[in-house]
Amino acid sequence: MNNTRASKAPNRTIPDSTTLDCTTPNSATSVYPVQGAGLGLRRVMLDSLQNHIPPAIDFFEVAPENWMTLGGKQAKQFRAITERHAFVTHGLSLSIGGPAPLDIELVKNIHAFLREHHIEVYSEHLSYCSDDGHLYDLMPIPFTEEAVNYVAERIVRVQDMLGRRIAMENASYYTAAPGKEMEEIDFILAILQKADCDLLLDINNIYVNSVNHGYDAKQFLHAIPVDRIGYFHIAGHFNEADDLIIDSHGADVIDPVWSLLNKAYERFGCVPTLLERDFNIPPLGTLLNEVNQIHKVQQQYRTENSRTITA
Ligand SMILES: [Fe+2]
Repeated sequence: MNNTRASKAPNRTIPDSTTLDCTTPNSATSVYPVQGAGLGLRRVMLDSLQNHIPPAIDFFEVAPENWMTLGGKQAKQFRAITERHAFVTHGLSLSIGGPAPLDIELVKNIHAFLREHHIEVYSEHLSYCSDDGHLYDLMPIPFTEEAVNYVAERIVRVQDMLGRRIAMENASYYTAAPGKEMEEIDFILAILQKADCDLLLDINNIYVNSVNHGYDAKQFLHAIPVDRIGYFHIAGHFNEADDLIIDSHGADVIDPVWSLLNKAYERFGCVPTLLERDFNIPPLGTLLNEVNQIHKVQQQYRTENSRTITA
């Protein structure tokens, strides 16, 4: 098993945070395939985006499974956007921690999709979604040494098949899977180290888990190595109770999550950040307010950082 970095892997040099210009897509200080602020593309947005893509959107993210079998008008609309805009992909059904054999056909299809649309970045969830078929929920992987070895080996296989590093996303969960031997952060760090993969850091998931499981979100951020970050997600959630938040992607991002995003920029530099919205999807103009809020937080980081340089 090849456990080294694939030669075609996106190879982002993380510069000293004082040199980052997060308002400029494709900044010369970074070679990561996307920069700035992004939006998760959903089919309902296609018509609104056909004639004009708002300049606030530096990149889009799609789940390959939702787009690779598309035909007709929507396939043409999608192609027209991927031809002129930057994209990343975020898979739904790889089920990296699931008991079923790795879905080789799915990985081949994803590879073809990435090639067809000239997309470099593929990310997935550090969870599983299948048992004897596809479940429509993301289940937590047990935080055990055995699971680290199992999942890391599968990530390495996917990276070898795709010829690039992939990014795994920290998942939200409500009850830890049975047999827990380590904390969530140690599980994630062990996966990053063993699989030599990147991390898609979901800022909202850190917030949700920190409330649901009673840990310090900032300490969590500071435990993650700077050179493993691919990009960030940010999203809204639903407050079920004081100590139970549901990661719904169905509401506006709340202030404590924006604050945590700011802390994340202080830790990792101005990482590309994407807004996810899957339910209660408002008109595009409303979503753009939140995409612009990402730009504002990035600009705030940049301004505070330049003050530090000149002080
Ligand atoms: Fe996410």
